[in-house]
Amino acid sequence: MYSYYHSLIVLSFVPLITTLILNSGDPKNVLTTETIVRKHGYPFEKHTVQTEDGYILEIHRIPNLKSSQVAFLMHCLLCSSSDWVVSGKKNSLAYILHRAGYDVWLGNARGNTYSLNHTKYNPRGQFADKYWDFSWHEIGFIDLPTMLDYVQQKTGVTQMRYFAHSQGTANFFVLTSLKPQYNKIFKSAHLLAPIAFLNNSFNIFLKVGGNIVGRSEVIQTLLGSNEFRPSRKLQELVGSILCTDFSRDRVLCDNAFFLVAGFTNETCNHDIIPEVMASSPAGSSLNQVLHFVQEFVSGHFRQYDHGLEGNMQTYGSSEPPDYPLANINVPMFFYHGKADNFATVKDVLRLSKKLKTLVGRFESPIANFDHLAHMFSPNLAEKIHKYIMRDIALIN
Ligand SMILES: *[C@@H]1O[C@H](CO)[C@@H](O)[C@H](O)[C@H]1NC(C)=O
Ligand SMILES: *[C@@H]1O[C@H](CO)[C@@H](O)[C@H](O)[C@H]1NC(C)=O
Ligand SMILES: *[C@@H]1O[C@H](CO)[C@@H](O)[C@H](O)[C@H]1NC(C)=O
Repeated sequence: MYSYYHSLIVLSFVPLITTLILNSGDPKNVLTTETIVRKHGYPFEKHTVQTEDGYILEIHRIPNLKSSQVAFLMHCLLCSSSDWVVSGKKNSLAYILHRAGYDVWLGNARGNTYSLNHTKYNPRGQFADKYWDFSWHEIGFIDLPTMLDYVQQKTGVTQMRYFAHSQGTANFFVLTSLKPQYNKIFKSAHLLAPIAFLNNSFNIFLKVGGNIVGRSEVIQTLLGSNEFRPSRKLQELVGSILCTDFSRDRVLCDNAFFLVAGFTNETCNHDIIPEVMASSPAGSSLNQVLHFVQEFVSGHFRQYDHGLEGNMQTYGSSEPPDYPLANINVPMFFYHGKADNFATVKDVLRLSKKLKTLVGRFESPIANFDHLAHMFSPNLAEKIHKYIMRDIALIN
């Protein structure tokens, strides 16, 4: 067992590092959220907001102008607003909420395809390192409240419902724990594959990354503030090493998105693969990935680890502070799967025990339900969304 695991690590090490360092990909998101939403026959609006630190974010809206019920949806790592609509009319959560009368707003985090503009820094230019110097902490601490304030101001509502997948749930925990005044704007939160604690993860990238971070400060420095944008050729190379078992679904193996998250037959929905491939991955920073790796290694849910000196400067302590989960008092619901290698059942249960206002937890009975199945599984309306709609009705 050890030698198998060991050789897997060694095998993955070289292409992973090459991928991260060369990092010279071309964005290939040919299918935009707007195109998809309009193709499905729904109205679409594009809004922009500027954060206090200069990032210009695009918020997408599937408007229900007469409605006073607002839904805000926040995407995962390497994802964007498009992931809430790629599953088609029947199975996409954004449309299900719209048909239920919601005014639907889709967030886009800094660094994704739609939120690449900045007042001072060009993400592909001279100050690219300054642009990419953020993690999912900043997305939760700055982007999320900026977008939510805007939505409140635009719609005039005092309360809304929050829906998120994976990183979008971590963003929510960051916001509501560190800026508790935001708790009151959420009527309820519906969190898919919730992420906070990660130390039981069996995701291969976290394991490999954890090994690297644990062993070498040099590589951590190399991975520092930069864009996570693996090149096409290197994705194919890593894919050919890690994905030999899935020859039928080779196309997925060559996509960084699926490489990072892994997939089972629940994720691999042949009806929507062309749309998913044309709109993913959507871009992120290396620090986002690294911050998750840090949580995997430490077993904490805490702020970014800058190393001893950096931590003293930033936090005044040798270790980064934990996010104070006790501050959260939004009625929350979890939805998760047994085969999820990021939001593992163990870590989700540990998180559940730390939250005083978790109202319900739905663990999918489907054995292969994995991380990305929450977004791409066939027949999602039946598998997950019907439980979300049931839970919404509980909290008025
Ligand atoms: C980026 O933002 C600046 C404002 O800082 C604006 O002038 C410019 O038009 C924006 N560029 C794009 C491509 O939206
Ligand atoms: C994860 O962290 C928790 C809390 O420190 C600990 O109880 C548990 O044993 C850890 N699990 C693993 C697999 O390290
Ligand atoms: C995936 O495979 C399992 C058997 O291994 C099967 O029970 C399940 O229905 C399959 N799921 C899909 C979506 O095809």
